[in-house]
Amino acid sequence: ANDNMNNIEKSLVIIKPDGVRKKIIGEIISRFEKENLTIEKLKMMKISRDLAYKHYQDHKSKNFFNILIDYITSGPVVVMIVSGKNAISRVRELMGSTDSKKAKQGTIRGDFGVDITINVIHGSDSVESAKREIDLFF
Ligand code: RTP
Ligand code: MG
Repeated sequence: ANDNMNNIEKSLVIIKPDGVRKKIIGEIISRFEKENLTIEKLKMMKISRDLAYKHYQDHKSKNFFNILIDYITSGPVVVMIVSGKNAISRVRELMGSTDSKKAKQGTIRGDFGVDITINVIHGSDSVESAKREIDLFF
Protein backbone atom coordinates (compact mmCIF):
# COMPACT_ATOMS: atom_id res chain seq x y z
CA ALA A 1 0.00 0.00 0.00
CA ASN A 2 2.94 2.33 0.73
CA ASP A 3 4.07 2.44 -2.91
CA ASN A 4 0.79 4.13 -3.81
CA MET A 5 1.44 7.78 -4.64
CA ASN A 6 -1.70 8.83 -2.84
CA ASN A 7 -1.74 6.58 0.18
CA ILE A 8 -3.95 8.61 2.51
CA GLU A 9 -4.06 6.96 5.94
CA LYS A 10 -5.54 7.72 9.35
CA SER A 11 -3.65 7.19 12.61
CA LEU A 12 -5.16 7.18 16.10
CA VAL A 13 -2.88 9.36 18.22
CA ILE A 14 -3.02 9.76 21.99
CA ILE A 15 -1.14 12.47 23.87
CA LYS A 16 -0.61 10.46 27.05
CA PRO A 17 -1.13 11.88 30.59
CA ASP A 18 2.51 13.00 30.93
CA GLY A 19 2.24 14.98 27.68
CA VAL A 20 -0.86 16.79 28.94
CA ARG A 21 0.82 17.46 32.33
CA LYS A 22 3.89 18.89 30.56
CA LYS A 23 1.66 21.33 28.58
CA ILE A 24 2.97 20.18 25.21
CA ILE A 25 -0.39 19.49 23.55
CA GLY A 26 0.11 22.50 21.26
CA GLU A 27 3.75 21.65 20.57
CA ILE A 28 2.81 18.12 19.48
CA ILE A 29 -0.09 19.24 17.29
CA SER A 30 2.21 21.87 15.71
CA ARG A 31 4.73 19.21 14.78
CA PHE A 32 2.04 17.25 12.93
CA GLU A 33 0.63 20.31 11.19
CA LYS A 34 4.09 21.52 10.11
CA GLU A 35 4.51 18.15 8.39
CA ASN A 36 1.23 18.75 6.54
CA LEU A 37 -0.66 16.10 8.51
CA THR A 38 -4.31 16.92 9.22
CA ILE A 39 -6.04 16.83 12.62
CA GLU A 40 -9.38 15.30 11.60
CA LYS A 41 -10.91 14.71 15.02
CA LEU A 42 -9.76 15.66 18.51
CA LYS A 43 -11.06 15.26 22.03
CA MET A 44 -9.84 15.36 25.60
CA MET A 45 -10.90 12.55 27.95
CA LYS A 46 -9.84 10.32 30.79
CA ILE A 47 -9.34 6.72 29.65
CA SER A 48 -11.18 4.20 31.83
CA ARG A 49 -9.39 0.99 32.84
CA ASP A 50 -11.84 -0.96 30.66
CA LEU A 51 -10.98 1.14 27.59
CA ALA A 52 -7.25 0.95 28.41
CA TYR A 53 -7.42 -2.87 28.51
CA LYS A 54 -9.16 -2.89 25.13
CA HIS A 55 -6.75 -0.39 23.57
CA TYR A 56 -3.64 -2.27 24.75
CA GLN A 57 -5.15 -5.79 24.47
CA ASP A 58 -2.14 -7.05 22.48
CA HIS A 59 0.08 -6.36 25.50
CA LYS A 60 -2.06 -8.12 28.14
CA SER A 61 0.48 -10.91 28.68
CA LYS A 62 3.47 -8.54 28.99
CA ASN A 63 5.15 -8.01 32.35
CA PHE A 64 4.64 -4.24 32.02
CA PHE A 65 0.88 -4.44 31.32
CA ASN A 66 -0.35 -3.32 34.76
CA ILE A 67 2.12 -0.43 34.86
CA LEU A 68 1.00 0.57 31.36
CA ILE A 69 -2.68 0.55 32.38
CA ASP A 70 -1.94 2.60 35.53
CA TYR A 71 0.05 5.10 33.46
CA ILE A 72 -2.44 5.59 30.58
CA THR A 73 -5.33 6.04 33.06
CA SER A 74 -3.37 8.40 35.38
CA GLY A 75 -4.86 11.64 34.03
CA PRO A 76 -6.53 13.28 31.06
CA VAL A 77 -5.32 12.51 27.55
CA VAL A 78 -5.88 14.07 24.14
CA VAL A 79 -7.10 11.62 21.49
CA MET A 80 -7.05 12.50 17.81
CA ILE A 81 -7.30 11.16 14.31
CA VAL A 82 -4.30 12.35 12.31
CA SER A 83 -4.60 11.85 8.57
CA GLY A 84 -2.47 12.36 5.49
CA LYS A 85 -0.24 10.62 3.02
CA ASN A 86 1.43 7.63 4.77
CA ALA A 87 0.21 9.09 8.06
CA ILE A 88 0.82 5.92 10.09
CA SER A 89 4.56 5.65 9.41
CA ARG A 90 5.08 9.42 9.39
CA VAL A 91 3.44 9.84 12.79
CA ARG A 92 5.60 7.00 14.17
CA GLU A 93 8.73 8.72 12.79
CA LEU A 94 7.77 12.00 14.45
CA MET A 95 7.14 10.11 17.72
CA GLY A 96 10.55 8.35 17.84
CA SER A 97 11.48 5.03 19.44
CA THR A 98 9.32 3.55 22.21
CA ASP A 99 12.17 3.99 24.71
CA SER A 100 12.47 7.75 25.14
CA LYS A 101 16.11 7.33 26.18
CA LYS A 102 16.91 5.78 22.81
CA ALA A 103 14.67 8.10 20.76
CA LYS A 104 16.54 10.63 18.62
CA GLN A 105 16.62 14.31 19.50
CA GLY A 106 14.05 16.11 17.40
CA THR A 107 11.49 13.36 17.86
CA ILE A 108 8.61 13.88 20.29
CA ARG A 109 9.76 11.12 22.64
CA GLY A 110 13.43 12.10 22.27
CA ASP A 111 12.64 15.68 23.24
CA PHE A 112 9.96 15.15 25.92
CA GLY A 113 9.78 11.50 27.02
CA VAL A 114 11.21 10.11 30.25
CA ASP A 115 11.84 6.38 29.64
CA ILE A 116 10.38 3.26 27.98
CA THR A 117 7.06 3.59 29.82
CA ILE A 118 6.55 7.34 30.23
CA ASN A 119 6.85 8.29 26.58
CA VAL A 120 4.33 11.09 25.87
CA ILE A 121 2.47 9.72 22.88
CA HIS A 122 0.79 6.77 21.20
CA GLY A 123 0.38 6.29 17.45
CA SER A 124 -1.24 3.37 15.62
CA ASP A 125 1.27 0.84 14.29
CA SER A 126 -0.67 -0.43 11.24
CA VAL A 127 -3.76 0.23 9.14
CA GLU A 128 -5.56 -2.59 10.97
CA SER A 129 -4.64 -1.22 14.43
CA ALA A 130 -5.70 2.26 13.36
CA LYS A 131 -9.14 1.03 12.30
CA ARG A 132 -9.59 -0.89 15.55
CA GLU A 133 -8.41 2.03 17.69
CA ILE A 134 -10.48 4.65 15.84
CA ASP A 135 -13.58 2.50 16.43
CA LEU A 136 -12.70 2.26 20.13
CA PHE A 137 -12.25 6.01 20.64
CA PHE A 138 -14.56 7.73 18.10
P1 RTP B 1 2.35 2.91 21.65
O1 RTP B 1 1.61 1.62 21.32
O2 RTP B 1 1.92 3.52 22.96
O3 RTP B 1 2.28 3.88 20.50
O4 RTP B 1 3.91 2.60 21.81
P2 RTP B 1 4.83 1.69 20.89
O5 RTP B 1 4.03 1.10 19.77
O6 RTP B 1 6.04 2.48 20.55
O7 RTP B 1 5.25 0.56 21.93
P3 RTP B 1 4.48 -0.76 22.36
O8 RTP B 1 5.45 -1.88 22.28
O9 RTP B 1 3.19 -0.90 21.62
O10 RTP B 1 4.19 -0.50 23.91
C1 RTP B 1 3.04 0.19 24.32
C2 RTP B 1 3.40 1.10 25.46
O11 RTP B 1 3.70 0.33 26.61
C3 RTP B 1 4.70 0.99 27.38
N1 RTP B 1 5.86 0.10 27.46
N2 RTP B 1 6.49 -0.17 28.58
N3 RTP B 1 8.35 -1.22 30.49
C4 RTP B 1 8.40 -1.62 29.25
O12 RTP B 1 9.20 -2.44 28.90
C5 RTP B 1 7.47 -1.03 28.28
N4 RTP B 1 7.44 -1.30 27.01
C6 RTP B 1 6.43 -0.60 26.49
C7 RTP B 1 5.03 2.29 26.67
O13 RTP B 1 4.20 3.33 27.20
C8 RTP B 1 4.65 1.96 25.25
O14 RTP B 1 4.41 3.13 24.50
MG1 MG C 1 2.17 0.09 20.05
